[in-house]
Amino acid sequence: MESLSFFIQTFGCQMNDHESGVLAHLLEGAGYREVPDPAEADVILVNTCAIREKAEQKVYSQLGRYRSLKESRPGLVLAVGGCMAQSEGRRVLSRAPFVDLVFGTHALMDVPSLLGRVREQRRRIVATEVSSDPSRVEALYAHSRGLGLKAFVTVMHGCDNFCAYCVVPHVRGREMSRPASEIVAEVERLSAEGVVEVTLLGQNVNSYGQKPQGDTSFAELVRRVAAVEGVRRIRFTTSHPKDLSEDLITLFAEETKLMPHIHLPLQSGSDRILRAMNRGYTSAHYRALVEKLRRIVPGIAVTSDLIVGFPGETEGDFEATLRVMAEIVFDNLFSFKFSPRPRTAAAAMIDALPAGVKEERLQRLQALQREHTLQRNQELVGRICTVLVEGASRVGGAQWTGRTPENKIVNFPGPGVGVGEELAVRIAGARINSLVGELAGAEAPCTCK
Ligand code: 5AD
Ligand code: SF4
Repeated sequence: MESLSFFIQTFGCQMNDHESGVLAHLLEGAGYREVPDPAEADVILVNTCAIREKAEQKVYSQLGRYRSLKESRPGLVLAVGGCMAQSEGRRVLSRAPFVDLVFGTHALMDVPSLLGRVREQRRRIVATEVSSDPSRVEALYAHSRGLGLKAFVTVMHGCDNFCAYCVVPHVRGREMSRPASEIVAEVERLSAEGVVEVTLLGQNVNSYGQKPQGDTSFAELVRRVAAVEGVRRIRFTTSHPKDLSEDLITLFAEETKLMPHIHLPLQSGSDRILRAMNRGYTSAHYRALVEKLRRIVPGIAVTSDLIVGFPGETEGDFEATLRVMAEIVFDNLFSFKFSPRPRTAAAAMIDALPAGVKEERLQRLQALQREHTLQRNQELVGRICTVLVEGASRVGGAQWTGRTPENKIVNFPGPGVGVGEELAVRIAGARINSLVGELAGAEAPCTCK
């Protein structure tokens, strides 16, 4: 009998992308084969996001499109997993009655057997129980895989911070760190498969090793990962400003494999709003962290997340955010309009700001950030950076694309270049989304790592 085929569509963050890869590997292990086109698949899996309402709407409209595929092929199985599935549970089946399987954030390991049950018993299943058994989590990561040169490695799950706007603690459950030895073993395996860049993933990597209490801090974990042969570049995401340790800050200077980029979500520049968000720091604390990081690694790239229109945000609060942005000048920013999420503290707050005001604030903030992004990119012009070549550029021609240590995309022409090489590239021009480079030949890279 020919094997069954599957197609996975992923919404949301890097954690979801990573988990879709794990799921694909699990399904392949169970005899399924992946196909690039949903119209050819026997099983379609949609890995969902719940962070903002818009993310959920996108999922439901995509499910609507899969409904017509199902109508023309009644045997097709449609499965919905991830954060929205966890949050909505059985409601997914009432809003999209053509869905066969809803699996939550803790049910990945069970997906092959759940799909078997759906097909054999011809019934719809909802699996959204939350597990606190760490061994199940470990079994899952035997299935992680590299994307060529790069790999993501989960170091912790869930979140206990309960920021007032955020649904993550409600859909991903309690914070749980993986044992350091397991993480290092996974990195060793990935490195042996050819991975050279590792991104350590967690909702709040700075509190790594606290729950359950271990003997390895996050900084120590980075040191251990850096000791793995073959690993050339290490990144991590996401850091919480309230937990960023001195030890980790100094590690940026000490550990050459730790790349000079930090994603440090600020969320708001107003202390009143930060308090209402339950973030646990002030804007002055945040600015001091960035100053320290820049003293230690002057060229470090700092990126952030900001929310506009949190309940009660006045024009004055918003202007405080713009002021902090102007003081810091982020390399890049993800910015969002506040979206009330079920079960969060902010959902019960009065969200009286008209949609038009939120939109106008977002536009002002994004216009300022475009200037800043270009400014920070222009500061690199004339410098020689070590670029890890990732592949042929989408720009076309004989162009290559790669990333600087600061994680900025560089496109450059070059004969005889190979994927995976680290090359000295002179930055010749700056755009908002990328840099333009030229091979620097034998000249040594300057201040970049
Ligand atoms: N509304 C708007 N933005 C949100 N984020 C998280 N929850 C919400 C919400 N309810 C943003 C935060 C977070 C990023 C991943 O998404 O900025 O850092
Ligand atoms: Fe959400 Fe806050 Fe946890 Fe980040 S730290 S996942 S924003 S609750």
